[in-house]
Amino acid sequence: MTLDVVILAAGQGTRMRSAKPKVLHALAGKPLVSHVLDTAEQLGATRTHVVIGHGAEQVEAELDGRDVRFALQTEQKGTGHAVAQTLDELGDGKVLILYGDVPLIRAETLTALLDEVDERRLGLLTVTLDDPGGYGRIVRDAEGRVTRIVEHKDASEAERGITECNTGIVAATGTQLKRWLPQLSAENAQGEYYLTDIFAMAAAEGIEVATASPASALEVEGVNNRSQMAALERAYQRDRAERLLTEGVALADPARFDVRGRLQCGHDVFIDVGCVFEGDVTLGDGVSVGPYTLIRDSHVAAGTVIEAHSIIEGAEVAEQAHIGPFARLRPGTRLARQSKVGNFVETKNAEVGEGSKINHLSYVGDASLGGGVNIGAGTITCNYDGAHKHRTEIGDDVFVGSNTALVAPVALGAGATIGAGSTISRDVEAGALAVARTRQTTRAGWKRPRKSS
Ligand code: UD1
Ligand code: CA
Repeated sequence: MTLDVVILAAGQGTRMRSAKPKVLHALAGKPLVSHVLDTAEQLGATRTHVVIGHGAEQVEAELDGRDVRFALQTEQKGTGHAVAQTLDELGDGKVLILYGDVPLIRAETLTALLDEVDERRLGLLTVTLDDPGGYGRIVRDAEGRVTRIVEHKDASEAERGITECNTGIVAATGTQLKRWLPQLSAENAQGEYYLTDIFAMAAAEGIEVATASPASALEVEGVNNRSQMAALERAYQRDRAERLLTEGVALADPARFDVRGRLQCGHDVFIDVGCVFEGDVTLGDGVSVGPYTLIRDSHVAAGTVIEAHSIIEGAEVAEQAHIGPFARLRPGTRLARQSKVGNFVETKNAEVGEGSKINHLSYVGDASLGGGVNIGAGTITCNYDGAHKHRTEIGDDVFVGSNTALVAPVALGAGATIGAGSTISRDVEAGALAVARTRQTTRAGWKRPRKSS
């Protein structure tokens, strides 16, 4: 049987007060609609349709390259009208209706709902809320069968007392929708074509409505304004934190922790407060991450210690390295075992060999360092000549004195020593000492000039 997933994303989201369409606002670093699409992808749909309207071009651009069909709803005349824009494209099999602004729905919940659907049965996801104001209410008969959904604005006082609400998520068949959607009318309090009216049509045909509920109300929470957005973000992050705690990760404060992507941790990882993880990050056994650290698309092997306020991006870090505080590892940084990158050190496209140290105030870019190298404070690889980038090659056991400029392309042979304050622009052979600075002059008994009074 075919499965079509329809994601409604045409609304403006006026209350976000933003130039950006609502469904493009990010939750955990990812647009709301992409969360929904990622979940939909797990269902093995035959086709996925995204109904766009407000900011259509921006939404299309964001989803460029994904396997979706766009249906343009030029005027927003209601949820039924929105789904109707896809009718020509729908198969006769199952159809699942989702929302671009309801990001946390889980695939398990949807699979369970889809299992209920056939030509004689519809699936409806409902949720019971203490404060159901604004939602469509589920009206059931004496036997408990769903007879219709009434929108809050159309509901009587008695109906407004119903706490079982429509989440909006519906599973039907293409055949049913092709029969019912053309019959919708807009004669209601909002003058809209309500998708929810198909439930009265189903009841009239004796078609049963199977209801299910999500494991958590968070799954069906929608975003209408920035306050709800922030609340959902916190709830999502709290949930991620709880899962890591369960897996054995020590978080100094689960309320001050953010993952925007995928974070995988080994045993006995410790993460201090205020850390942010973006993209794809792995932390090996026993890794310790100091406070206010940002790690993006990086892999950190077992036993490495990262101290406070470090920024690590696109880096591969081996076992027992020591980073920070205040270190910045940029893309292409590869630190070998037991290497050290200390405070106010920036690295980029740099390989740092086993046990090598860059402890203070340096820039090491487009460079490879062997093992046992010591880079003195204030060393700079001058990798850019204004037009091109050049590499610096440093052999094993090289010692670079403080405040040295290494003008690339340049190579320092194994065991070479560079005197402090040097500007090195020519290769230094293995085992040699190179000093490139003006000689010190000293005048004994020097009399400083004095002001005449
Ligand atoms: C809808 C349901 C209501 C349910 C609630 C849950 C209907 C008639 N009502 O109400 O029973 O309790 O969701 O949140 O379905 N959209 C379009 N095109 C349109 C209209 C809407 O794409 O023409 C999209 C919106 O962008 C939004 C979603 O559909 O993401 C829901 O639309 P909205 O108007 O917010 O429906 P509600 O009034 O909240
Ligand atoms: Ca809504």
